Amino acid sequence: MTERTARITSPVGPRALVDGREVDYFCGTSYFSLHSHPDVIAAACEATRLYGVASATALQSPAHVELEDELCQFLGTEAVVHVASGYLAPLALLQGLTGRYDIAFADSAAHYGVFDGLRAVEREAIAFRHLDADDLKHQLRSHVRPGQRPLVLTDGVFPSTGALAPLPQYATLLAEYAGGLLFVDDAHAFGVIGETGNGSLEYHGVERAAAAACGTLSKAFGGGGGFVPGDRALRAAIEKHSRVPLGASAPSVPIAAASAAGARILREHPEMRAQLWANARFAREELRSLGFDLEMSPIPIVSLAGRPGVDLRRVHAALAADGIAVLYVPPRGYSDAPDVESLRIAIFSTHTRDQIARLTDAVRRAL
Ligand SMILES: Cc1ncc(COP(=O)(O)O)c(C=O)c1O
Repeated sequence: MTERTARITSPVGPRALVDGREVDYFCGTSYFSLHSHPDVIAAACEATRLYGVASATALQSPAHVELEDELCQFLGTEAVVHVASGYLAPLALLQGLTGRYDIAFADSAAHYGVFDGLRAVEREAIAFRHLDADDLKHQLRSHVRPGQRPLVLTDGVFPSTGALAPLPQYATLLAEYAGGLLFVDDAHAFGVIGETGNGSLEYHGVERAAAAACGTLSKAFGGGGGFVPGDRALRAAIEKHSRVPLGASAPSVPIAAASAAGARILREHPEMRAQLWANARFAREELRSLGFDLEMSPIPIVSLAGRPGVDLRRVHAALAADGIAVLYVPPRGYSDAPDVESLRIAIFSTHTRDQIARLTDAVRRAL
């Protein structure tokens, strides 16, 4: 996003050292602070001692095997393909879907990785208006010829605004087309939403048979690397058609081990998810009381959009002076960022109510 010049010199968590000062930290994507969890760090250190930093070979280390097993358990899937990064996961999935679709449609604000994936498979996608099921309906009707199978691509949860894609509406539209398929980049939803943390499809109760998703371990799970869950047939198709698992080294050993430990902690402690949702709802309630138009959802990304007479750069600076770090996002400063400036606030399961109340108070004073 922006402000890449600031330095964080502690592990990420509800309190962090930014530019040498301890602050209430509301940035980034470590929604459960697992990147600094002692068991995650211990797993990364132990795996490094046992297997070295990287396998530096196409052979899988035990850390990578464990990661795949853990992800299959977490996601309740037969198979999973893990790849170097969440950014590459849409490409691997698109390549795995070779021959399964004829024409592609993408939310105009889908993540960069989705559009780069489409470019890499040499597919022009028809863009539909951001989050707009009516426009998608119109585009489908205008472009899909009889017998063609459409693929509709979107983020499940958008990274800057925390908006939820209306997946049930997209799925209903797609049901009119034999072989229609929904494609979800669920980087910010896996681990975070759905009863078992299985992401946007579980959250919305959308049938998995006509959908495919990919995710990342760099956010909720406390590690790094991308993944594509599915059945054995999808894994075989990715192995056949994608050069990503072959050509890009897997996440390093400590990161694979950290990711596996993070997934296990999340699977064994569903109360962490409940705490995150409660914190997200509390933050939304509090900030709504200041006049911001926020949906009541469990999504831990809260976006305060600029409004006339409010200079969010100044609000951002005032929060920083109060020891509170949030992200200033300039207009169109990220794939889905609004046309106006905004503040992106990341809520963690580890934030206390006091911290969230302090944040609201500081925003109130700065407005
Ligand atoms: C929606 C979305 N997809 C994919 C990614 C890429 O994930 P990673 O940073 O783990 O490569 C991001 C990164 O922030 C994202 O926001």
